[in-house]
Amino acid sequence: MKSLLFLFFITGTLVYAQQVIRGPYLQSPTETTITIMWRTNVPTNSTVWFGQNPQQLTQTASGNSNTTEHTVLVTGLNPNTKYYYAIGSQSIYGGNSANHYFYTNPVIGSQDSLRVWVIGDFGKGNAGQIAVKNSFLSWNGQNRTDVWLWLGDNAYNDGKDSDYQSKVFGLAGFSDIFSFLPFWPSPGNHDYNTVWQESTFLGIPYSNIPLENHEGPYFNIVDVPTQAEAGGFPSNLEVFYSFDYANVHFLSLNSEVYDYAQTGTGINRMINYINDDLSQNQQDFTIAYFHQPPYSKGSHDSDDLYEDVMRTMREEIIPVLESYDIDLIVCGHSHVFERSFLIKNHYGYSDTWDPAQHLVSGTNGDFATGNAYIKDKYIQQNDGAVYVVCGHSGSENSDGSMDHPVFCYDDNGTGVTGSFVIDIYRNRLDGKYLRSDGTIQDEFTILKKNIPSLNIIDTLCLGEAMILSAVLSGGSDSLSFLWDGNGETQNQITVNSLQSNVYTCNVIDHLTEQQTTSTYQIHVQECVNKVEESFLNPFILYPNPSKGKVEIYAEEVIQTLRVMDEHGKLVYHTFPQKNLLSLTLSHLPAGNYTFEATLSSGTYRKSLILAP
Ligand SMILES: [Fe+2]
Repeated sequence: MKSLLFLFFITGTLVYAQQVIRGPYLQSPTETTITIMWRTNVPTNSTVWFGQNPQQLTQTASGNSNTTEHTVLVTGLNPNTKYYYAIGSQSIYGGNSANHYFYTNPVIGSQDSLRVWVIGDFGKGNAGQIAVKNSFLSWNGQNRTDVWLWLGDNAYNDGKDSDYQSKVFGLAGFSDIFSFLPFWPSPGNHDYNTVWQESTFLGIPYSNIPLENHEGPYFNIVDVPTQAEAGGFPSNLEVFYSFDYANVHFLSLNSEVYDYAQTGTGINRMINYINDDLSQNQQDFTIAYFHQPPYSKGSHDSDDLYEDVMRTMREEIIPVLESYDIDLIVCGHSHVFERSFLIKNHYGYSDTWDPAQHLVSGTNGDFATGNAYIKDKYIQQNDGAVYVVCGHSGSENSDGSMDHPVFCYDDNGTGVTGSFVIDIYRNRLDGKYLRSDGTIQDEFTILKKNIPSLNIIDTLCLGEAMILSAVLSGGSDSLSFLWDGNGETQNQITVNSLQSNVYTCNVIDHLTEQQTTSTYQIHVQECVNKVEESFLNPFILYPNPSKGKVEIYAEEVIQTLRVMDEHGKLVYHTFPQKNLLSLTLSHLPAGNYTFEATLSSGTYRKSLILAP
């Protein structure tokens, strides 16, 4: 009896010794990994149990030991898959409920639909912040939310750990979302109050502290990709970063790298990073977000002379973003909602606004009335961007003239808070302003002409058949096809040729009215083996058939390489930027795959057999 009592005492001590006092929360999901973080009141080791069945969390991952600040990187996951999880040390002490789950990212470049939820200036710990979260959850219903963006001023008043605790992670009515929705943050000036204090330059606010020394609670709390773990380009710093999700590229910038000593060091490093990042970006849509907006007439006025950061973002950062034909720029800081027309090249104060120069489309962008904004992915020019300010997801300010000429819609937010939702499906992007009263008050659509014009060269063994596909990527669900020569109107035709031939296909996307023509030069040759390598193609796969390892060689730099299975589903995507690469595809089932390489001279395809 005595030993039983003792055992009970020990067990009880183990169970009740530690409490989870923050999280768990989720960071940096990729196709195959995610980071899970939490805080305990006493140090323990860090273990995550996970699995696709909530009743069978049979896999484990471990992180740092004997700590109150737990970080566990879970690896070896499948893309686009739902997992449940629990947290603990030797045994489970948290998580393990229907609301403790996450999704891994879909394969980069895939055209699955995705929903993005955006909040700015929310961390006030007030009823308006909770109302924003509740309005989103009830409006969203059972739909999956894929990406959650933070626009900065995440925890008032100074971004202290205690601010984050009381107004974000520990705020009843708000914090229940963290167990299943990873956030992708950017910092604001209020978060930076403690960054300046805790960084190494004598605690003088707004001084030129090297980016490497930006430290403080914000940077302790977040765990964002610095090595392009989720796509994009490595920033090597958490100060700014990028990631890909499905066919969208996200760029998390940082307006607070501006220094009032005006050395320009931080801004110039951010410009270099944007150039590195966006010059390699091939995604269908590109969204940048940061705290201080280039244009606003809300609680901050971008014409005020003391708004140096807003002016600098407008004069120095916006031209770089627009030079890469960015689609959407979302900011906070001004405690209102403002949404622009489709605009470009407007880098001055509002009195320099000239519609003849700066307005690409002066419609409201409403899809239902035929006014959606239309852009072209493949024409190298600035087609214009839409600018959104959403800084009242917890903050309310009704002052400000609300009359900046770039804006098509605004809400001064009197008595109401709100958030911003972005839905993307294939080549359509919808932006929606969701007020905390549950109503959509503004809506716009950007459509993208994104079907590549192909120049396919391939080889067919004499007497065999081959399937030609007009469109494997890009376009909407409403396409029509016309093949020259035989009048076929399907996406795919089967060629059963006895002699070499050139086929062309005209494609119309009825959503964007894009028209493209692709050509297919099919060379028929006698083959000794069933699959014989052709040297007519500007890129070569070796060996073919392959048992999983494939070498790819091209005469030019391979910009994009996509691999599709027999059903045209994208199974692999990379941006090699080199002539030669080696892939391991042994995780894919045996079968026929199409490799599509984009070189500077065109896009080419080859078939590969993956043998068991
Ligand atoms: Fe701010």
